[in-house]
Amino acid sequence: MRVSTVSGFAVSARSAVVATNSPINDRVALHTKQAPYRTYAMAFEIARDVLPDALYWDTLDPYHYVRLQPGEGKTDFLIVGGEDHKTGQADDADDRFAALADWIKGLVPDIGTEATRWSGQVMETVDYAGFIGRNPGNRHVFVVTGDSGQGITHGVVAGQLISDLILKGESPWRELYEPSRKTVRAIGDYLAENATTIRSFAEYVAPGEIDSADKLRPGEGAIVREGLTKVAAFRDEDGTLHKRSASCTHVGCHVHWNSLERCWDCPCHGSHFAVDGTALNGPAVSPLGSVG
Ligand code: FES
Repeated sequence: MRVSTVSGFAVSARSAVVATNSPINDRVALHTKQAPYRTYAMAFEIARDVLPDALYWDTLDPYHYVRLQPGEGKTDFLIVGGEDHKTGQADDADDRFAALADWIKGLVPDIGTEATRWSGQVMETVDYAGFIGRNPGNRHVFVVTGDSGQGITHGVVAGQLISDLILKGESPWRELYEPSRKTVRAIGDYLAENATTIRSFAEYVAPGEIDSADKLRPGEGAIVREGLTKVAAFRDEDGTLHKRSASCTHVGCHVHWNSLERCWDCPCHGSHFAVDGTALNGPAVSPLGSVG
């Protein structure tokens, strides 16, 4: 097979592995079995040996996770994460960080000052195991996705499992991570996750979030209706207005503004776009369309 990129790079190979976090090689097959969630994390200084070094998490909804990162001298970092929501369905990062800080300070009163905070996106599968193996319908195309917050573990699994499938034709882990699997338990989740897509298309007939892009202040983004078109509008610090189509270039869902990361997020399958429309995160690979 021949794999080529938009920048003109091309390679021929017997097998190809798509390890792009969210697969960019199909429009539907795996995207209807996993959903994107935005997660939030903070790092606090903590004196060494206050907590045993382990992975901790709870079973709340939304859940929380805690781990230690070695620092210098006698100070380590306590990384606290969680307060997840489905991508594009909330834009209240400050509240999520405040909830995270309250939660950990209630459990570990001895933590020090906050060192940094960030957010990221997690692809959750319907049964919380990754999709690692042959792409459905392809013999020589392999995928790694649906890490469900276990990307480091899944990376190791993928390295072993996919190399075995390519070189030996079989792996003892094949069935567990089979991308084409469908469990009975997962069917309810499958239907619920795909309701996001239906809701997203309904947004095209709703009014814009503001009635005119003139109302945007520097650093703000919002969806504006212009005639029959929905526009993703952002005003930068210089006052320049950036306008792109609000239609995701994967399969057309309606993007949402992410004020923390300053990008446009697609709630359906997790694509992200920069304020100038550039595709930042798959499955979309093309920029948001231009508007007149
Ligand atoms: Fe699939 Fe946007 S990521 S429609």
